[in-house]
Amino acid sequence: MSWYGSHSFLNEYICENTCKRIMEIGVYTGENARTMVEAAVRNVPPGEVEYYGFDFFMGARLREVRQKLEKTGCKFQLFKGDTVDTLPKVVTTLPIMDVIFIDGGKSYSEARSDWEHAKTLMHDGTAVFVHNVDFSGVRSMVDSISRSQYRVKLFRAPFEGEVALIKKKT
Ligand SMILES: C[S@@+](CC[C@H](N)C(=O)[O-])C[C@H]1O[C@@H](n2cnc3c(N)ncnc32)[C@H](O)[C@@H]1O
Repeated sequence: MSWYGSHSFLNEYICENTCKRIMEIGVYTGENARTMVEAAVRNVPPGEVEYYGFDFFMGARLREVRQKLEKTGCKFQLFKGDTVDTLPKVVTTLPIMDVIFIDGGKSYSEARSDWEHAKTLMHDGTAVFVHNVDFSGVRSMVDSISRSQYRVKLFRAPFEGEVALIKKKT
């Protein structure tokens, strides 16, 4: 386990909850995207798994990530650019997600914008995981989430620091 790539808490959640629609804010090399999709296809056919990824995708990254995801057989969409711009533009066109991983910009304004858009894509059972709560901007965003509307659980993933798991209060 590490800060990048595969995260066992995500893969286990996806497997145990038969997640089909996965969104990741901050894709980097796409290794985590690939392993999340692989976790999902343990339960459902690859063609029924959908992945939505957001990142700057600098240089050849977009091609690299696309090639990795094509090999899995899942359906996917990648959105290139600053999520402060891309998320508001496309969020209303996206389906409701089963799991969302917020792991993009670590400033308060970026994390806050990512959360504000991600929360519009939650159903009653959606899990939103926020990585790197140890960063002050990310922690301030997590602290600002309404505890009357959401259950926020903090946990420490081995070698990864603090992670927040957010679910709607139903
Ligand atoms: C920590 S890495 C993501 C790691 C990946 N989730 C994983 O588990 O392997 C953070 C990524 O967020 C992207 N990023 C940071 N700020 C961003 C922003 N404002 N808009 C889009 N992407 C951003 C960076 O390009 C980088 O690839």
